[in-house]
Amino acid sequence: MEGGNLSVGFDLKGKVSFSLFLENLSCYLAASFYLFALRFTSQKVEWFKFFLRHVFKIRCLAILLSAFYFSGIAYFLSCFNPWGPGSVFSPLFSFERLIMKSWKILDTAPIPGNGGELQLSQRDTEFSISIVGEGILMGSWAHDSEDALAELVCCKIAGRSRPRVLIGGLGMGFTLAAALHYLGNNAEVVVAELIPAVVTWNRGSLGEPAGYPLEDERTTVREGDVAKVLKAERRAYDAILLDVDNGPVGLTRKKNNWLYTLDGLTASYAALRPQGLLAVWSAGPDCNFTQRLHKVGFKVKQARVREHDNKGKLHTIWLAESGP
Ligand SMILES: C[S@@+](CC[C@H](N)C(=O)[O-])C[C@H]1O[C@@H](n2cnc3c(N)ncnc32)[C@H](O)[C@@H]1O
Repeated sequence: MEGGNLSVGFDLKGKVSFSLFLENLSCYLAASFYLFALRFTSQKVEWFKFFLRHVFKIRCLAILLSAFYFSGIAYFLSCFNPWGPGSVFSPLFSFERLIMKSWKILDTAPIPGNGGELQLSQRDTEFSISIVGEGILMGSWAHDSEDALAELVCCKIAGRSRPRVLIGGLGMGFTLAAALHYLGNNAEVVVAELIPAVVTWNRGSLGEPAGYPLEDERTTVREGDVAKVLKAERRAYDAILLDVDNGPVGLTRKKNNWLYTLDGLTASYAALRPQGLLAVWSAGPDCNFTQRLHKVGFKVKQARVREHDNKGKLHTIWLAESGP
């Protein structure tokens, strides 16, 4: 993943300029071919005459095709971002290293009880949090589905008398900021964050993209495992928002698997107030997880939200409602 102190990233602007470069390159190649063909004509090579008569049309077609082709590649890249810091592809593209600005590693922190490390990187105004050796956990350039996780739930509970929300995983604070946005002044939002360094990062420069939501007086931070908070409290929250992994499988650390088991979901159910909502973010669907939610007694709905500006990957959000 990360080769040293500098790694290379590739944002949408980069992708577009890269694709434009390739389009220009293909125009250049078409023009060279044209000149090359002219030389042959002067030597009266017959079979080239037909080609030259139509060279303009052929060149236009080549440019058109290459434009389609490279726009397709640019779209693919915008969906999968395989060059971000922590990606296995990033060391392969030395050309990109020459034309793109580098990602700078700002800090690294151990993941408690797991043995791995979390890494914060920055390039210009963009931030990324990666699990070293695994890949990106979160990037500041695409957070629509993290916002939606809060919006879908908080709009429903904002009218309650004193809504309390538990968020599992601070990350870059986008879900927290969205929750605060949709809730009123009477709300309380508790954020459980496993890695103390993430809280420190959010109090510093990482807090800027989400607008420093930790400074909001409705926010309470609990440094530690969200599972501990769930186990300790009964009928305490109107909503629980979980975004600690990339889906209902322990990615940040294996122990997180518990959260998505029948036991873990039963603990969430018990921590919710009547008609409480459990929302879980995931990179994709998982039928088994949906079944487990049903088994525990939740009424389950699913939303699919694109990662950024209605483009890119389609993420899944489970909305599970507890009983009266
Ligand atoms: C994908 S990020 C969350 C992104 C967040 N929704 C946002 O809008 O920026 C996951 C976060 O969950 C934290 N985390 C992972 N496991 C956790 C656990 N068991 N308890 C609390 N936080 C956890 C990670 O340290 C990381 O900060």
